[in-house]
Amino acid sequence: MKKINIAIDGYSSCGKSTLAKAMAEKLHYIYVDSGAMYRAVTLYFLENKVDLEDDAAVADALDRIDIRFERGPEGIETYLNGRSVESEIREMRVSSMVSPVAAISKVRRAMVRQQQKMGEQRGVVMDGRDIGTVVFPDAELKIFLTADPAERARRRYEELKAKGSSASMEEIKSNLLERDHIDSNREDSPLRQAVDAVVIDNTHLTQEGQLKLALELAESRIEAG
Ligand code: DC
Repeated sequence: MKKINIAIDGYSSCGKSTLAKAMAEKLHYIYVDSGAMYRAVTLYFLENKVDLEDDAAVADALDRIDIRFERGPEGIETYLNGRSVESEIREMRVSSMVSPVAAISKVRRAMVRQQQKMGEQRGVVMDGRDIGTVVFPDAELKIFLTADPAERARRRYEELKAKGSSASMEEIKSNLLERDHIDSNREDSPLRQAVDAVVIDNTHLTQEGQLKLALELAESRIEAG
């Protein structure tokens, strides 16, 4: 059966990774969380006090960063220079700084290069902000996910609370909106809906309903290929 690449883009906390993971599992494809890569870079910059305004320091740091994904007992984990950072990259200190880091062109170029390599053999479901527009402009299926901001904040709040975080709903909502603003207005590859993307608003959809819809789309694209 022919393999396709699937790009899932959309605003922060729309459930992109939940959908992408479930699709990859059903189709036996590789799932890549591109946001985790920007988060891992951000964690490295924070830990090593890299000045975002210092071009040479950013380039030097990027040369020292190795990001990989490996399967752990709880699913795919993100590794930064050999250490699992899966839970640290979801903390608020990283969420608060990731959008400015992801707006740096040097950072984007380095990440996009790696992401395109991962998709060379096809059979990849990747979620992010620029997957359908920049990383895989030729993806056979592009989905643009949206959901009401209040619902997105509620979902994120529940998710973080379950992990023991004390972040408030207000703090989470303002972080989401601020990230959306920076991600949509940056100069280099802003968050945009690809012209050939299928839009799914999941505010009132169950996870199962959304998955069914997305898999039907994927199957029709696989058959068409
Ligand atoms: O998907 P996420 O919320 O974990 O992504 C974290 C940040 O990374 C997000 O605020 C914007 C940035 N990002 C990006 O610029 N391009 C991508 N392809 C994925 C994420």
